[in-house]
Amino acid sequence: MKKITVVGAGFVGATTVQRIAEKELGDVVMTDIIEGMPQGKALDLMESAPIEGFTVEVLGTNDYKDIEGSDVVVITAGIARKPGMTRDDLVKINSNIVSEVCENIKKYAPESIVIVVTNPLDIMTYIALKKTGFHPSRVMGMSGVLDSARFATFVAMELGCSPKDVDAMVLGGHGDTMVPLPRHTTVSGVPITELMDEATIDMLVERTVNGGAEIVELLKTGSAFYAPSAAITAMVESIVRDQHRIVPAAVYLHGQYGHDGIYLGVPVKLGKQGVEAILELDLTESEQAMLDRSAEAVKIGISTLTI
Ligand code: LAC
Repeated sequence: MKKITVVGAGFVGATTVQRIAEKELGDVVMTDIIEGMPQGKALDLMESAPIEGFTVEVLGTNDYKDIEGSDVVVITAGIARKPGMTRDDLVKINSNIVSEVCENIKKYAPESIVIVVTNPLDIMTYIALKKTGFHPSRVMGMSGVLDSARFATFVAMELGCSPKDVDAMVLGGHGDTMVPLPRHTTVSGVPITELMDEATIDMLVERTVNGGAEIVELLKTGSAFYAPSAAITAMVESIVRDQHRIVPAAVYLHGQYGHDGIYLGVPVKLGKQGVEAILELDLTESEQAMLDRSAEAVKIGISTLTI
């Protein structure tokens, strides 16, 4: 049985634990610094097992010792955006949190694969790489699966078709400079550039880029968690079931797409070793320019760090 830890028992963390348990991807440990909260949510989830019919165990804890031997650790701990805040406003608070979490991962789960979800995503994933000292194939960030799912949702809404038939691709950083790729976004194999006019595509791209903020504005007291937890679970599943899925994820680039030493969202193959390959797409000049702009924003974020 695989062991999967989710650090942070807030909305994103707890919903992820629920999805992982219901899919029986492994036993799950949910940790949080708030006393009683992960224990309470874990017990509540265990009490749904007879109804849902899953047999994995869910443990809630405040003690990092319990993460010992985890195969995958998902980091959701951190402060979420409030209305009007950018993801970068979160840098200071969340870099301290992620650093401390990573020291414990290094100590108790040195063989694990780490998926970072805490924002600002690309910068927090870089911190996780530095603090764990793990090989880059074992430290990645979740953003592209979520951003692509949002793009796919908006395409399906626009065409009035099933979201199941839409495959979207969004690269770049998880922020205002993300790079949705209409050319590589298809409906049953047909690129959307053949199904809608440019103005419509531009509108959907714009909504995708602001997808996280749109939810924050509506919720007022927090950020999205249903789609983020679904995206995390898809990545965890590809790893623990060794599915070799090809999905966009924030990974450490060493020369790919002309960038070096930063995290950026690009298509990767995910399996039991973590990031098994980075796929290099032939981008058009304007797509590459947008990706470069996104990389620049990530570089600026990293340069403000004091780690
Ligand atoms: C979002 C936040 C989690 O995109 O970044 O919803």
